[in-house]
Amino acid sequence: MADILDRVELDRLLTEAQAEALETPEALEEFRITHFGRQGLLKDLNERFRQVPGEQKREMGQALNAFKGALQTLFDEASSILDAQFDAQTSGQDPTLPSGGVKVGSHHPLSLVRREILDIFARMGFVVADGPEIEDDWHVFSGLNFPEEHPARDMQDTFFIQRDPDLLLRTHTSSVQVREMERRDPPFRLVMPGRVFRNEAISARSHCIFHQVEGLYIDKGVSFADMKQTLLMFAQQLFGADVKIRLRPSYFPFTEPSAEMDVYWGLKTEVDKRITKGTGWLEIMGCGMVDPAVLEASGVDPEVYSGFAFGMGIERIAMLKWQIGDLRLFFENDMRFNAQFTRA
Ligand code: PHE
Repeated sequence: MADILDRVELDRLLTEAQAEALETPEALEEFRITHFGRQGLLKDLNERFRQVPGEQKREMGQALNAFKGALQTLFDEASSILDAQFDAQTSGQDPTLPSGGVKVGSHHPLSLVRREILDIFARMGFVVADGPEIEDDWHVFSGLNFPEEHPARDMQDTFFIQRDPDLLLRTHTSSVQVREMERRDPPFRLVMPGRVFRNEAISARSHCIFHQVEGLYIDKGVSFADMKQTLLMFAQQLFGADVKIRLRPSYFPFTEPSAEMDVYWGLKTEVDKRITKGTGWLEIMGCGMVDPAVLEASGVDPEVYSGFAFGMGIERIAMLKWQIGDLRLFFENDMRFNAQFTRA
C-alpha cells in the first residue's frame, strides 16, 4: 500500500509536472493520460486521500484540490499554445469551403483541326494510316518519282540524319502513300496525318516543323472529276456549304496532272490579309492523279488501277479559323495559348 499522502510529495509531483515539455500534441496527450486518465496519477492520489486521518482531511483536501487545479492550468495553457500554432499554420484556410475544382486539360488547336479533317474524310470512307517521321530516300523521294537532282533533296530543304544510305526527316507525308501502296492491295481510301520537317528559317509565317494531312484514293476507274468532287465536299464541310474553291495547274513529280487547291476565305482582318497574301484565297493543298510510274514502283498495276492523292498543311487552316497571326505559337506550348481552344 502506498504511503499516506503528504504535502511534500504533492509539491514534488507538481515540480515534476511543470518540468515536462508539452510542445507537441502527442506530448500533451501523453500528459493527459498519465495524469488525468483512468489509471492516471490523480486516480492514485484520490485513493490514497481516503486513508488520510480525519483530522488532516480538510487541510490535505485543500492541498490536493490546489494540486489538481495547478495540473489543469498546465494542461490548458499548453493546449491553447498548440491550438494557436495550428491556427497560424493553417490561417486563411477554411476546410469547409468547396475545392477550387479540377483543372481539365484541353486539346491543342492543331489536334482539333486535324481531328475535324479526319472526321470529314472518315464520313467519305477514308481510313487513317500512319508512317515514320524518320525515313529513307526511297519513301520520301525516289519512290515518288523525284529525279536524282531534284532541288527538294538538297541539304537546304531536308534534314539528313545520315548519308549513304540516307536517313532523313520526312519533308512531306507523301512518304506514307508509298508505304501503304507497298503493303496494301487496292482498292483503298486513306488519310495520313503527320508531322513533317523542312530546313527553313523560323518566322511568323514558316517553321522547320509543320503538320500535313495526306490523302490517297486508289481504285479502278478513278478520275480527276472524282478528285475534284471529293475535295469540294471536303471544303464545304470544313468551311461551309457556300465555300468557293479553285484548282490551279501545278507540278509534283508524283502526280500527273497536278494541281493546287485554293479556298476563298475573304479579307476581313489583318490576319486574313497576311495568311492569304492579300488575295483572300487560301492555298490549302497540293493534289493530282497518282503518276503511273509511282503506282508501278509501289507494286500497284497502273493498267488496272488509277487514283488521286492530296496533301495539305493544317497550320494555315488553324491560323485563319482562330485568327492566329504567328505560326510559332503552335510550337511554344505556352499553356495560356494552348488552353484557349475548345472546338474546331
Ligand atoms: N507532298 C506535297 C507537298 O508536301 C503535297 C502533295 C501531296 C501534292 C499529294 C500532290 C499529292 O507539298
